[in-house]
Amino acid sequence: MRRCLLYLLAASCALGAPEATVQFNRDIRPILSERCYACHGPDDRKRQSKLRLDVESAAKGDLGGHSAIVPGEPLASELIRRVTSSDTARRMPPAYSGAVKLSSREIDLLTHWIEQGAQWQKHWAFIPPTRPELPEISDRSWPRNSIDYFVKAKLDAEGLKPAPEADKRVLIRRVSFDLTGLPPTPPQVDAFLRDASPAAYEKVVDRLQASPHYGERMAARWLDAASTRSRATSCRAPRGIRLWQPDSTGIIAATARAELSPKNTRWST
Ligand code: HEC
Repeated sequence: MRRCLLYLLAASCALGAPEATVQFNRDIRPILSERCYACHGPDDRKRQSKLRLDVESAAKGDLGGHSAIVPGEPLASELIRRVTSSDTARRMPPAYSGAVKLSSREIDLLTHWIEQGAQWQKHWAFIPPTRPELPEISDRSWPRNSIDYFVKAKLDAEGLKPAPEADKRVLIRRVSFDLTGLPPTPPQVDAFLRDASPAAYEKVVDRLQASPHYGERMAARWLDAASTRSRATSCRAPRGIRLWQPDSTGIIAATARAELSPKNTRWST
């Protein structure tokens, strides 16, 4: 079970201290996208001041003697001047639009990113993953895999100790609820307790994932997502599947065959 949490933690560990390298995709694009693209983004009917911040060449381009972003020089960058300005008529995003000032953390990130050279990144989906170096940690006997190193490094940095591993009864109960939404049966608990092999937990995960209840669990999530939209929008099922049939075997079978994905599902508004 620890493993599931690890992935989540590892993602936030990567953030590290403020002086660490600021990354465009992780730290900057979300700020620009949420706070600036409404007026300086791809939509040319809504664009203000002819400034685009979603395209590198435009964001760094000449605006008549100055530029929004001057790599390496936050103080010369109009973007930084505008987000830090105490003059509400100049500050971005504009007060008249009802937007609140950027937080000091957002301003710090933008400033450090420009200081560090304002490197743009392609969309993450086009960047081949690379394996990072394992961080130094206080207790090398704790990790079981490389992701654990990142978790431990973050715990060390926060002055925290790892929680003790849950006992086997707790583990099988958690993973059963997680994957199928159902508790384990007493014989399943007994079998897990008797299995002393190192792969005992993996075997339980494999068994649960092979179960039709795993399909039901995944389909339920998918249906939840579909029905939260169904008041404002109506949802059409992929061809050949009736979404709201009382017996959900169609959906479960489709989920098991991985047919229910946004790619082959048509949404109508
Ligand atoms: C609600 C629309 C709106 C939003 C959101 C907005 N801006 Fe602006 N921006 C404007 C308008 C209008 C102007 C032109 C008027 C002015 O210069 O104050 C402008 C001008 C600018 C300029 C000056 C351009 C030049 O030619 O000198 C910069 C830099 C800028 N914005 C950056 C930002 C940043 C960074 C954000 C997000 C943190 C942002 N803006 C969000 C409307 C917006």
